[in-house]
Amino acid sequence: MIDIVCGGQAGDEGKGKISAYLSYKGDYDYCVRVGGPNAGHTVVADGKSYTLKNIPSGFLNPATKLVLGAGAYTKTEWLLKEVALTGTQDRLIIDPYAVLITDEETAAEQGAGHFMKHIGSVGTGLGQAVKDRIERREVKFAKDEPLLKDFIQDVPELLNGALDQGQNILLEGTQGIKLSLLHGEYPFVTSRDTTASTFLGEAGLGPKSVRDVYVVFKPYITRVGPGPLEKEMTDEKDLEVYHTKGHEIGSVSKRLRRVGAFEKRSASRAIMINNATKIAITHIDMFAGNDHIKSYEDFSDEAKAFLEGIKALSKEVYPHPKLALVSTGPDMEDTLVL
Ligand code: IMP
Ligand code: MG
Repeated sequence: MIDIVCGGQAGDEGKGKISAYLSYKGDYDYCVRVGGPNAGHTVVADGKSYTLKNIPSGFLNPATKLVLGAGAYTKTEWLLKEVALTGTQDRLIIDPYAVLITDEETAAEQGAGHFMKHIGSVGTGLGQAVKDRIERREVKFAKDEPLLKDFIQDVPELLNGALDQGQNILLEGTQGIKLSLLHGEYPFVTSRDTTASTFLGEAGLGPKSVRDVYVVFKPYITRVGPGPLEKEMTDEKDLEVYHTKGHEIGSVSKRLRRVGAFEKRSASRAIMINNATKIAITHIDMFAGNDHIKSYEDFSDEAKAFLEGIKALSKEVYPHPKLALVSTGPDMEDTLVL
């Protein structure tokens, strides 16, 4: 079966951490990533922090094979660096039609005021590569890169064959509902839809084999670029706590993230559009006194009130997902299963 991890806000909800946890504790044969290198996912384990642009966060489980689907975009040098960092050369599989962003595409995006200033693009060249692909111009596919030839395999055939044998897949999505090209806050969005059904399509999978859809939220929202945020925080002292303790600095863009209040409206849309069955909450330790908590009873009143609010929201919105995971610190082990 397939489980999917989706972002319920504006990216950086902690999908990397949740995917790493699920994959480490679970029995996934494959961990699949789609989308571009603009989306940095951070995994912390045994005191070591990995910021990954493309390697699926499930790499910590040595039994899990790592897959980039046809809807993945990367750059050869960045990918090979991450392969070396994570020691995953023997278990990486890349679809022949995953796209390699060229230096020209990166330069074009970085030189375009429209992308960089108006939209606040991360500047990896993803938007430019997507644009070239949509215009049916010449793009560089993974199958055309000699350095990647050992990794190339037909991903839809591989994954659907695995499902047929009863194997399990974790599909790790990128960004969040507010950044969806279709359902987000246009034009302050990324260059693709960022919901569960699109992630499936980008991997070459269909909806019938899905078991759980996790939507990940923080108790607040961050944005690395321009665009709407309800009740944006402006107090510099308050913001500093988020930027330091909360590590709210763009993992790819290196920008200080803007911080706003939790938004009920975008959260319900994330539950609805992703068809969420489970909710994961990260950064609960940003409420004072909730670091490394091991049981629900031990959360502070403030944290409990937030979690109860999430349960109430879920009662209101189809398909009424269960609050399943609460992350109480950056390390993979700082996770409470409810
Ligand atoms: P682009 O996808 O690089 O063009 O960026 C479009 C908008 O989405 C900008 O506001 C970016 O900061 C934001 N964005 C893109 N990727 C991510 C991500 O992974 N996390 C958070 N924001 C992102
Ligand atoms: Mg990120």
